[in-house]
Amino acid sequence: MAKEIAKPATGKLGIMVVGLGAVSTTFMTGVMMARKGLAKPVGSMTQYDKIRIGKGENKKYLHYKDIVPMPTLDDLVFAAWDVFPANAYESAINAEVLKEKDIEPVKDELLKIKPLKAAFDKNYAKRLDGDNVKQCKDRWDMTEQIREDIRNFKKETGVDRVVVLWAASTEIYVEPDMKYHGTIAALEQAMKDNVVDKVAPSMCYAYAALMEECPFIMGAPNTTVDIPAMWELAEKTQMPIAGKDFKTGQTLVKSGFAPIIGTRMLGLNGWFSTNILGNRDGLVLDEPANFRTKEVSKLSTLESILVADDQPDLYSEYYHKVRINYYPPRNDNKEGWDNIDIFGWMGYPMQIKINFLCRDSILAAPLCLDLCLLIDLARRAGRCGTQRFLSFFLKSPMHDYTVDEVPVNHLFQQYVMLKNAIREMGGYEADEEID
Ligand SMILES: NC(=O)c1ccc[n+]([C@@H]2O[C@H](COP(=O)([O-])OP(=O)(O)OC[C@H]3O[C@@H](n4cnc5c(N)ncnc54)[C@H](O)[C@@H]3O)[C@@H](O)[C@H]2O)c1
Repeated sequence: MAKEIAKPATGKLGIMVVGLGAVSTTFMTGVMMARKGLAKPVGSMTQYDKIRIGKGENKKYLHYKDIVPMPTLDDLVFAAWDVFPANAYESAINAEVLKEKDIEPVKDELLKIKPLKAAFDKNYAKRLDGDNVKQCKDRWDMTEQIREDIRNFKKETGVDRVVVLWAASTEIYVEPDMKYHGTIAALEQAMKDNVVDKVAPSMCYAYAALMEECPFIMGAPNTTVDIPAMWELAEKTQMPIAGKDFKTGQTLVKSGFAPIIGTRMLGLNGWFSTNILGNRDGLVLDEPANFRTKEVSKLSTLESILVADDQPDLYSEYYHKVRINYYPPRNDNKEGWDNIDIFGWMGYPMQIKINFLCRDSILAAPLCLDLCLLIDLARRAGRCGTQRFLSFFLKSPMHDYTVDEVPVNHLFQQYVMLKNAIREMGGYEADEEID
């Protein structure tokens, strides 16, 4: 891994968001309110966290911005694509995440964010019916049109750098298939041959972003950049990529709570997670093919924390089940239930119940901010390819499954990776080990 110190964050940072729904409008509104001093960016590591630098008498705890060069919130410029033509103000109101009093003071700024036409294919999200959609000859043409959007945005705003963030709906599951996803050449050919069931629209966004020298973040569980062709493209273009799936509510709890069981050598018989959710995300996930993508992502968390091969007596055959239920009355206020069947001394069973009444987009917004700022930092430090230090923010961290690499899902190990990367990009020694 490169050990370069990050270059300064000069000029403005453009953030182009795919999807102008609940998460992205909550993110944008929060940034705009925070820079007016009208709200606090609570939950954001880049705005609040402090990391220890040095040891013994020389140790200091510093904010990220005092260790590495970071843009301020004033430096961020937003744009978005969406299937629906509603601007960011209308979309924030429609999402019903934030109260009007927390939107109105930045209404003028939000009104200006009008979504670019989406690169969309209804087969990837059957429940969506918008008409703000690009007319594309084939997937190659789709990619070309997105590249043009990015170039236009750069020209019109004069931003120094751009990050592309996917905060759009979860697409149906696309199983990595090496015939189409194995190399850049294979993927490009599939785009030109218009192999629509193998090249998801999200892959066109990611391909376009990387070709235009923009880091790409996948906030949904889509396999988009988690294929060898994209890893190769990220290396070739020297761009960082990150994914998949924002780690917000139930999975955050899981990756923080499972270590309690694993650290105390308690056994696990089963973990059942279910939740109710009534926003548009929930509606899309009500479609079995879209839920499948989420399920794969959510199920991956436990296996690398409570590992059967390491402790066969404790974790050999636990049953792990995850459910999402669309329930409109709750809108964005998701309620999650976890039932955990554990066992202790001499195998005696016990149960733990967790009931998390969370707010999906309120938890996701600070992750959007941190992921955008940190992937831009990685790019300025000359880091390219999959950014494992960003796993802290992600439910299903990207890893090289072709060589059986095991992803790190343990929240506190992920935090060590995050802190060490910041230290290194600031020119300090990484000084905490992951055991
Ligand atoms: N909020 C969370 O806690 C959380 C956690 C993990 C992942 N996510 C993911 O984040 C994404 C956004 O969530 P949300 O609640 O904002 O959903 P949302 O439905 O409110 O917004 C998504 C928007 O994306 C648009 N869209 C869909 N396909 C598109 C395309 N091809 N191009 C452009 N726009 C497109 C839709 O029209 C919609 O407006 C979802 O995929 C969700 O699974 C959210």
